[in-house]
Amino acid sequence: MSNHLQTLFTGRQLIELLEIDSTNNYSKELLSQNKPSEGTVIVAHKQTHGRGQPGNQWQAEAGKNISLSVIFYPTFLSADKQFFLNMAVSLGIKDFCESILNDEIKIKWPNDIFYLDKKIGGVLIENTVSGSNLQSSIIGIGLNINQTKFSNDLPNASSFAQIANIEFSIPELVNSLCNYLEKYYLQLRSLHFNFLDKAYTTSLFRYNHTSYFKKGNDLFKGEIMGVTKEGKLIIEANGKEFKFGLKEVEFVI
Ligand code: BTN
Repeated sequence: MSNHLQTLFTGRQLIELLEIDSTNNYSKELLSQNKPSEGTVIVAHKQTHGRGQPGNQWQAEAGKNISLSVIFYPTFLSADKQFFLNMAVSLGIKDFCESILNDEIKIKWPNDIFYLDKKIGGVLIENTVSGSNLQSSIIGIGLNINQTKFSNDLPNASSFAQIANIEFSIPELVNSLCNYLEKYYLQLRSLHFNFLDKAYTTSLFRYNHTSYFKKGNDLFKGEIMGVTKEGKLIIEANGKEFKFGLKEVEFVI
C-alpha cells in the first residue's frame, strides 16, 4: 500500500496540533462539542500528558513519533463485541508496521505493538456506548518512529529508526497508517468477526509458544490459546485453560 492517502474517510479530515495535553483528550472535547466526520484524525507534534493504558503515561519525544487519535462511529457493533475493534486496530497497525519494516511484527495482548521483544507502539481506545451498541470511539495510537533514546524506565522500547537504521517522514507514515486502519475497520464494519479473531490470534506475541507468565507473585509456564470474545487472554497451563483480564497476568519478557 502506498504512502498516499487512499481511504474513503480515514484521515480525510486531519487536525494537526503543535502541542496538546493528549490527542485522546482533544478528541473527547471535539466529540462533546459537535460530531466530527467519521475518520477524523488528530495528530500532535508534542503531547504534554500523553496517556497510556489505564494508570500509565505515554512518553514520546516531540516531533519524532506518531501520536494521533482517530474518531470512528462503530454504531453497528454491540458493546459486548467491542474487543473486535481492538483487534481490527491492532491488525491495521501491525500490517502497516510490517509494510514499512519488512519484518514480522506481533501484537502483545491486548494491543501493544512488538518487534521481537521490544515495544514499538501502543493503543488506547476509548469508547462511548448508547443502548447496547457503541456510539463513538477514540482510537489513540502512539508509535515510536525516529526516536532513538528512551528513558531508563522504558528498557523494552524500540523504534522504526532503531530497527531500520534510517529516518522516516512522519506525514507519509500517517497517510499509510490511515490506509491500513481503514482496511481493517471496513472488515469490522462488514462483521467479519471470525476473520479478525483468527488474524489477531495468530498475530499474538508468544502465540503457540510455551513461555512464562506471572500472576501476582506466581510464575507459571503456559501457552496462549487465543482470546475470548470479551477480550480475555486464554492461557493453557498444566492441561487446563485459564482466562485473564487486563492486569491479571503479566508476560515475563
Ligand atoms: C499504551 O501502550 O499504554 C497506550 C499508548 C497510547 C498512546 C497514544 S499517543 C496518541 C494518543 N493520545 C494519548 O494520550 N494516548 C494515545
